[in-house]
Parts: sequence; structure tokens; C-alpha cells
Amino acid sequence: MLNLWSTPRVVDQAKPRDYEVLEDIHGASFPVAWSADEQAALNDTPGVTTFVVRRGSATASRRPIGFITVRQAADEAEVLTMAVHPKQRKGGLGRMLLNAALRHLYAERVGAVFLEVDPANEAALALYKKAGFQTVGERPDYYANGQNERRSALTLRLDMDQPTLRPSATIARMVS
Ligand SMILES: CC(C)(COP(=O)(O)OP(=O)(O)OC[C@H]1O[C@@H](n2cnc3c(N)ncnc32)[C@H](O)[C@@H]1OP(=O)(O)O)[C@@H](O)C(=O)NCCC(=O)NCCS
Repeated sequence: MLNLWSTPRVVDQAKPRDYEVLEDIHGASFPVAWSADEQAALNDTPGVTTFVVRRGSATASRRPIGFITVRQAADEAEVLTMAVHPKQRKGGLGRMLLNAALRHLYAERVGAVFLEVDPANEAALALYKKAGFQTVGERPDYYANGQNERRSALTLRLDMDQPTLRPSATIARMVS
């Protein structure tokens, strides 16, 4: 039976009023939190986009419950961070966010997406591998844990199968 009180999840782009909540989610997810001011500065950087997932009901809170930030430069992009509120995990939100970001980057004609992930982060590794990312390298001393210790990261890459443009054929069509 349809549950009228269930709250669908919607993904859209982060607004400045969301940054305080993103700080909370980031702080609950990583040893070193990105502040609301840092989120604002990052999102003002050219090529950077943050998608948030919210409850979709008109009567429910519209606070973000997860987010992903990506940065595009020419035909490459990287996932800078992603996190789902600890109480909302394992419900498909991480997958929703990653799919939204990848759809956006595909539409922007990105050919390859990179990210760094802690090799001990089973949840993130499983999510990325299911999306098609493959390990292409390792970066020593990448993560700070807030206690003067540093850990290495794996570099993952996803190739996006963009249709090849044939400039001569395209131009011929335009002028004929
Ligand atoms: C990684 C993270 C974003 C996943 O979000 P989520 O909403 O829980 O993920 P989903 O429910 O969409 O799960 C998608 C897939 O991820 C994998 N996954 C998620 N949680 C997992 C866990 N605890 N252990 C193993 N695999 C897990 C599963 O393969 C899952 O697919 P399935 O549902 O078919 O089994 C979330 O765990 C998180 O915020 N972690 C802390 C921050 C972080 O590590 N960010 C990534 C930095 S690189």
C-alpha cells in the first residue's frame, strides 16, 4: 500500500543557506570538518558543483541529509567529497548523489572522473566500485586524521563513454 507519509528524496544543487548543515554532515563524517565558510568559498570556485539530497515532502524538513561536491576542469573532473548523515546511511542516498553528480558531469562532456579514497573505507570503496570506478594509483600521506598522523589514499578513475564528435561532419551538416 502507498504510504502517504513516506518522504521521497530529491537531489538538487546546494544553496548558500545549506552550508551550515553541510558543515554538520561533514563534521559527523570526517576527522577534519569543512566549515560553512570553507563550503561557501569552495562552491564559489569555477567548475565546482555541490549536489544535496533532501526529503522531498512539502511537510518534512528540507534540510540536506547528504551531499557530494565535484570539480570539473576541461574534460576531467574529481569528486572532492561526499557524505551522508550517519543516521541516513545504507538507504541508497550515496548512490543517488553519485549518480546525480555523474549525470551532470556526463552532460558537461567530461571524459574521466577521479577521486581519492581511504583504502579502509569499505562503504565508499564499495559504492565507487559499483559505479564502475577502478583503482589507478596510490597517494602516500594523503589524509590527515586530526592527530598529526597521515594515511595513504587510493586514486580511483571512472571513464565516461562520451560519443566522439566528428568536427568535419558536424560542420558539413551546419553549412549545408
Ligand atoms: C560512503 C557513503 C557516502 C555511502 O552512503 P550511503 O547512503 O550509506 O550509501 P548507499 O546506501 O547508497 O549504498 C550504496 C552502496 O555502497 C555500499 N555500501 C554502503 N554502505 C556500506 C557499508 N557500511 N559497508 C559496505 N558497503 C557499503 C554498498 O555496496 C551499497 O550498495 P548496496 O545497497 O547494493 O549494497 C557513507 O557511508 C558516508 O557518508 N561515509 C562517510 C563519509 C565518506 O566516507 N565519504 C566518502 C569519502 S571518499
